[in-house]
Amino acid sequence: MTQEELFKKLIAHSKEYGFIFPSSEIYDGLSAVYDYGQLGVELKNNIKAYWWDAMTRLRENIVGIDAAIFMHPRTWEASGHVGAFNDPLIDNKDSKKRYRADVLLEDHLAKLDEKIEKEVEKARKRFGESFDEGQYRTTSERVVALQKDRDAIHARMVKALTDNDLTELRQIIVDAEIVDPVSGTRNWTEVRQFNLMFDTKMGSVAEGANTIYLRPETAQGIFVNFLNVQKTGRMKIPFGIAQIGKAFRNEIVARQFIFRMREFEQMEMQFFVRPGEEMQWYEYWKNFRMSWHRALGFGDELYRFHDHDKLAHYANAAADVEFRFPFGFKEVEGIHSRTDFDLGNHEKFSGKKLRYFDPETGESYVPYVVETSIGVDRMVLQILSASYAEEQLDGGESRVVMRIPSQLAPVKVAVLPLVKKDGLPEIARGIIDALKYDHNVHYDEKDSIGKRYRRQDAIGTPFCVTVDHTSGEDGTVTVRHRDTMEQQRVAIADLPALINKECSLRSLLEKLKN
Ligand code: GAP
Repeated sequence: MTQEELFKKLIAHSKEYGFIFPSSEIYDGLSAVYDYGQLGVELKNNIKAYWWDAMTRLRENIVGIDAAIFMHPRTWEASGHVGAFNDPLIDNKDSKKRYRADVLLEDHLAKLDEKIEKEVEKARKRFGESFDEGQYRTTSERVVALQKDRDAIHARMVKALTDNDLTELRQIIVDAEIVDPVSGTRNWTEVRQFNLMFDTKMGSVAEGANTIYLRPETAQGIFVNFLNVQKTGRMKIPFGIAQIGKAFRNEIVARQFIFRMREFEQMEMQFFVRPGEEMQWYEYWKNFRMSWHRALGFGDELYRFHDHDKLAHYANAAADVEFRFPFGFKEVEGIHSRTDFDLGNHEKFSGKKLRYFDPETGESYVPYVVETSIGVDRMVLQILSASYAEEQLDGGESRVVMRIPSQLAPVKVAVLPLVKKDGLPEIARGIIDALKYDHNVHYDEKDSIGKRYRRQDAIGTPFCVTVDHTSGEDGTVTVRHRDTMEQQRVAIADLPALINKECSLRSLLEKLKN
């Protein structure tokens, strides 16, 4: 199965089993907006709990807030979003399709990288054991030429983005002979800037009403509350404020399912530090956030850091955690050293002091900020794509299994009475009553046991508990494990401990290194 096929199957599977639906589907949907179904919402809530506990509950110096989506419009002038939250867009005159100019170039660079890697792999096979990769990369005429071409385009792109030079950005696309994937032509318009914020009117009459924005990031709700939290919580630097909430961006190119949405959810944490200490905290948070991802156990090779080519208007250092999606390595999280840009600007625009008096140094200053910012929806996509597997079983059968980490699985246990009579449903309901206060548990009595197992495999339920006629006699049940399909006989009284051990967030959180 190609990665493209896998991705298509994943989208269909997510809909078929109630993870994710297109928004307002009966009206043919709304581009880049999605609804989470009965299983999707459970998965999302578990991801949020994993993040929230790792970032706030386990730490004495980070607290959470829940700020409003609407904010005073001046907020977005101070933050720089009104002036600078733009993407460079370009249209193809033949297909009438719109693209982000920087993404067209990044995709082109990725293709050149792929070509280089293919050449290297071919040579590795040709030369066998005696292959010297370093030497080959510097002496193969083809590889050297491809690399030179790639580096030149990359350097021009970074400069054009940094200088905000839209004419040059278009020229690079033309010089690199990039064609529109739809029309196959190079008939490009000029590059224009496009502001990504949605606006709306506040007030009952449109005339004279204020234009307000749907927040494009949750972070500003934290910055404007910096002193409220610091004072009321008696927080001492370094300390952090965390928040989970919706954000909105009028993305030019909305594609790849829930990867790039117009309404999405962020989990952000701003860590306030002494000026000059931001780089050490930046390294700390990069490492911690990577360990949070890797603790899920999908394999370390699926993650990498990517340092930003072009720093955002507020940052002096920035890196992404990238995950290998079916469509390649892409950003799931950003770690940014935001300097004192935001608090400093809010001071200027609001006229209110946003300073911290440091009892240790006796100084008053605007703190520096290191931010960790991750999309909940991209985490959902990460988990779905890493978990989906099709397996051939003995006897010519096959199954689709979602190997979702047990702690995040939407349903932890399915309780299945072998038959709908002889008191078995009652025993099953009793088991559910014992587990449901701690876990999301399903009851299923329809179809053969084999079919019921398949249904649970397809939604990632780690445990199926089968109640049979012996259960009434000796108080035991069969526990079937999703990944190995192994079965074991367990006393009903021991079930809560077994399920807790495997499915509680604690087992995941304990893996994290602070
Ligand atoms: N406060 C900093 C900030 O918002 P960002 O890199 O623009 O930084 C942070 O966004 C994270 O939010 C991204 O790593 C991604 O996971 C998520 N995100 C951003 N735009 C998104 C979109 N259109 N759809 C889904 N997730 C998005």
